[in-house]
Amino acid sequence: MRFDSKSPLPLFLLALACGEATHALGDGAGPLGAAGATSPDGNGDAASAGTGGNPPVIGDACDEDSPPELAPPFASPEVVWQRISRFVADAEREAPSALPDEVSPEWAGEIALAAFDRELEAQTAPAGMRRFIARWLSLPTEPEPALDRDWASMAAGDGATLRTLLTFREAGEPDRVGIFADSFWLTEYERIPRRASTMHRALNVNAAPLPPSEPTAFDVTPGMTAREWYVNEVSPPVCAGCHTVIDPYGFALEHFDEVGEYRETDGGKPVDASGWIVIDDVEVSFTSIADLAPRLAESCQAGRAVSQRFLADALLASGTAAEPVSGNLSHVVLAYPADEARINRAFFAGGRTIRALVEGAARSEAMLR
Ligand code: HEC
Repeated sequence: MRFDSKSPLPLFLLALACGEATHALGDGAGPLGAAGATSPDGNGDAASAGTGGNPPVIGDACDEDSPPELAPPFASPEVVWQRISRFVADAEREAPSALPDEVSPEWAGEIALAAFDRELEAQTAPAGMRRFIARWLSLPTEPEPALDRDWASMAAGDGATLRTLLTFREAGEPDRVGIFADSFWLTEYERIPRRASTMHRALNVNAAPLPPSEPTAFDVTPGMTAREWYVNEVSPPVCAGCHTVIDPYGFALEHFDEVGEYRETDGGKPVDASGWIVIDDVEVSFTSIADLAPRLAESCQAGRAVSQRFLADALLASGTAAEPVSGNLSHVVLAYPADEARINRAFFAGGRTIRALVEGAARSEAMLR
């Protein structure tokens, strides 16, 4: 069975997927094992992606459907520049040069990158990049979150990619890999389920289902690791439908305690940061975040999620889209499916650089109309 990560996955399917996979783990053969054995068609043609014929290889053929060409009418150059300025600089800046008579997507892309570079020269990272990083990590955008590392500057750096953010390694700490191992973030999201649901939200196009009611208090029984206690709590099928899908992200971070300190043991027992998860239809086992992060970085799933969230943040900041009633960032772009496909394509074709996202968001129809 294959799931198209681009379309909304109803909850019953989520539960089904996870029930199936749990069962499969027991027999040592994944539900996707058979599909995994088919030989790659080696086609790489955009048109063949998502037709069901491509083999489940992480990050293989992430091409999107071809969106229609963007054509005028567009808004005036003054209006488009103001939007781009608010998106890149989080402020209304003066246009860098004489504005053209007419807007074109090429011009919008160029002017956004030029504005990005000017901001970069003036400060460590454009304010728009700080705002995106905060939103992506589900942290408040004001005041600026005191992340341990300056991820916004790293993201704004020349050649920075999604991989840079997900796999950056701290010296001397083998498991402190990537932005989700930042101790500020780990302290904000201090335990498995909240870390897991927040990471799921950042790295999947479809947001995690919300808990049905007030979740059980996190009250670990002495002598157990937090993971042991928690896994037992969520073992009833009524809980597992959601939690088996979401939780592995949190397991991967188990080497970090509630204040983000590295640990080898929890409750006197060795930490278990291993797990398995389905990424791009492939079942992936991992030992910890160090092992999981590179595979997320190369996946279509995380690539799509990040470009979708980037576009959503850009549209909100530029004033072209309204904050969704749901508060869910992925809902912002629902009204702009062609823009979403366009930015995904630009991101994948551009080697998943952050600059490709900046250019892609500026060239969206929502920004230009
Ligand atoms: C519809 C999906 C869903 C179902 C069903 C579900 N949960 Fe959750 N649960 C979540 C999500 C999402 C979170 C994270 C909430 C957040 O990020 O604030 C969560 C959080 C939790 C937490 C953490 C609370 C904390 O303070 O950190 C516990 C414990 C928990 N769930 C237990 C359960 C148990 C026990 C059941 C079954 C009776 C269950 N859940 C059923 C989705 C679900």
